[in-house]
Amino acid sequence: WPGQARLISEINRLKRERDAVILAHNYMTPEIFHGVGDYVGDSLGLAKEAARSDAKVIVQAGVHFMAETSKILSPEKTVLIPDLRAGCSLASSITGADVRLIKQRYPGLPVVTYVNTTADVKAETDICCTSANAVQVVEWAAREWGVDRVILIPDEFLARNVAAQTTVGIIAWKGHCEVHKRFTVQDIADMRDAWPDAEVLAHPECPEEILAASDFAGSTAAMTDYVEQRKPKRVVLITECSMASNIKGDVPGVEFVGPCNLCPHMKRITLENIRDCLAHMQFEVTVPQEMLERGRLAVQRMIDLPP
Ligand code: 13P
Ligand code: SF4
Repeated sequence: WPGQARLISEINRLKRERDAVILAHNYMTPEIFHGVGDYVGDSLGLAKEAARSDAKVIVQAGVHFMAETSKILSPEKTVLIPDLRAGCSLASSITGADVRLIKQRYPGLPVVTYVNTTADVKAETDICCTSANAVQVVEWAAREWGVDRVILIPDEFLARNVAAQTTVGIIAWKGHCEVHKRFTVQDIADMRDAWPDAEVLAHPECPEEILAASDFAGSTAAMTDYVEQRKPKRVVLITECSMASNIKGDVPGVEFVGPCNLCPHMKRITLENIRDCLAHMQFEVTVPQEMLERGRLAVQRMIDLPP
């Protein structure tokens, strides 16, 4: 579309003028993902990229907790988000005060926190994890602390899915992703009826019965790798539906079928507000110094774990 092409070239010009990079999550719409994203990927990949980049400005084409993570890892950079209302139901399910209460209740147990949390929660955390490394992080924390249980918050479903893959006991919280909890076992049964040869890939933020009914579970990057390496004839991605649109072009022989659930928070980010963000240097995301330093320990610990 000519309007989109104009916006994309305007954004790419502004990026050079501002010395900015755009970190685009896998759930961005294709025109953002392919048109203006300098780095694309899952939460873990984007966090690492934020730390590595030497640009002066980071534009987070994603949600607020991701921009806070970028700021935590790159305090000297200006971190912008095109729409401050791009939140997350998991991040808003818990506060730093809640974590302090959990720690009082379970003294001596390490706190592992999913990156989908606010900076004040990260500041109360021993080590962060993403869906790509949650089992590894939980087992590392249990070994380091010399305990057989860890606190893994705030995603109840991720916690249950991790618990099914480890002998470490898990103390969970009751947060949910509003997008992934909407998928049902019936959705998968319908897909298998309609396309018996389709492979079903699900995100670990889904309830455990969804993962049990699927062929593979993994982060958004792990799902992409699966499709690119195995090239199934047909695939159902049980996750936010921009994912399929974004990877389709790279695997022309693969047919993507299945239900479509959109994340309303991710969908707040548009080419228009990315252009405005760079044109007016809005909206800056900051984290108070003490919170930032404590949060950085938790995020950096995760990044420093061996692959
Ligand atoms: P990942 O990209 O880390 O799999 O996370 C998915 C998600 O829901 C991010 O908000
Ligand atoms: Fe949060 Fe779920 Fe949206 Fe990801 S998809 S930002 S976890 S609400």
